[in-house]
Amino acid sequence: NSLYRFPLIKINGIPLMCHIANNWNSISAFLPDPSDLLIATYPKAGTTWVQEIVDLLLHNGDAEVARRAPTPQRIPFLEIHSPAPIPAGLDLLEKMDPPRVIKTHLPIQLVPKGFWENKCKVIYVARNAKDNIVSYYHFDQMNKTQPEPGPWDGYIHKFMNGELPWGSWYNHVKDYWLEREKKNILYLFYEDLKENPRREVERIMHYLDLSLSDDVISRIVELTSFKSMKENPMANYSCIPEEIFDKSISLFMRKGVVGDWINHFSPAQNQLFDEDYKRQMKDVNIPFRTKI
Ligand code: PPS
Repeated sequence: NSLYRFPLIKINGIPLMCHIANNWNSISAFLPDPSDLLIATYPKAGTTWVQEIVDLLLHNGDAEVARRAPTPQRIPFLEIHSPAPIPAGLDLLEKMDPPRVIKTHLPIQLVPKGFWENKCKVIYVARNAKDNIVSYYHFDQMNKTQPEPGPWDGYIHKFMNGELPWGSWYNHVKDYWLEREKKNILYLFYEDLKENPRREVERIMHYLDLSLSDDVISRIVELTSFKSMKENPMANYSCIPEEIFDKSISLFMRKGVVGDWINHFSPAQNQLFDEDYKRQMKDVNIPFRTKI
């Protein structure tokens, strides 16, 4: 079945799912409005969480409005194209009036130039490498449109070599980090959101030039807790059919914690990963935490 386990095709050296690579010209030509907001992440870094926070901030914490549709319909996923199981980003965007919130996993050099030319706001979310790969591994097992992840040990090597869809985690987090000041990117960490969600919700609010009451902020923090989102059918990806997201393998809202990597890395894998990490990250110092 052509819906399953899409092969990867490289665009400028970055492995992308074939339906993205095959439509690359129209994706890279997308012209946003200056009022559009981009939420950019490496897959599994906390995208859906920040999407929900932003949507609620933009609607004054109104839970009913935020439940108007599942996440991928409210917030188009820029590069996703048919026959993926969620609506094609460009098709949705064409039907929506700015200001729009847009999701992408593209590394910074593949983000359509229009976002920078129009000085769009960009929120980047980064998650520590070890929890990020663990989350991605579970996702690749349960999401039948992602390439077959294979055994965990080999998966670690694919991650370190930048062979997973959307490429190298290391380059992804570094390249946005290095551009964050010049391009006015709000660079967030999953671990900070876990540690103090209210503080991070307020940071996002200020970045969006919004000023909401303390009560509304409290409500947004509550509505975007892991538990609330896991139970919210418009935020938990239960909209995706069971034969594509196999819930018997893993839920999209899986654990939502910092430090789950400890349950997956053997001491030898951990040592190998740490040594490689030092090498790949030596040129840039990003303050990641693997536990809080
Ligand atoms: S995707 O497919 O790239 O858009 O996935 P993404 O949303 O970036 O990442 C999914 C992981 O984020 C966790 N998650 C949360 N954690 C804490 N609080 C909230 N509210 C929340 N919402 C989503 C989700 O459980 C995935 O992480 P793991 O570690 O697999 O549980």
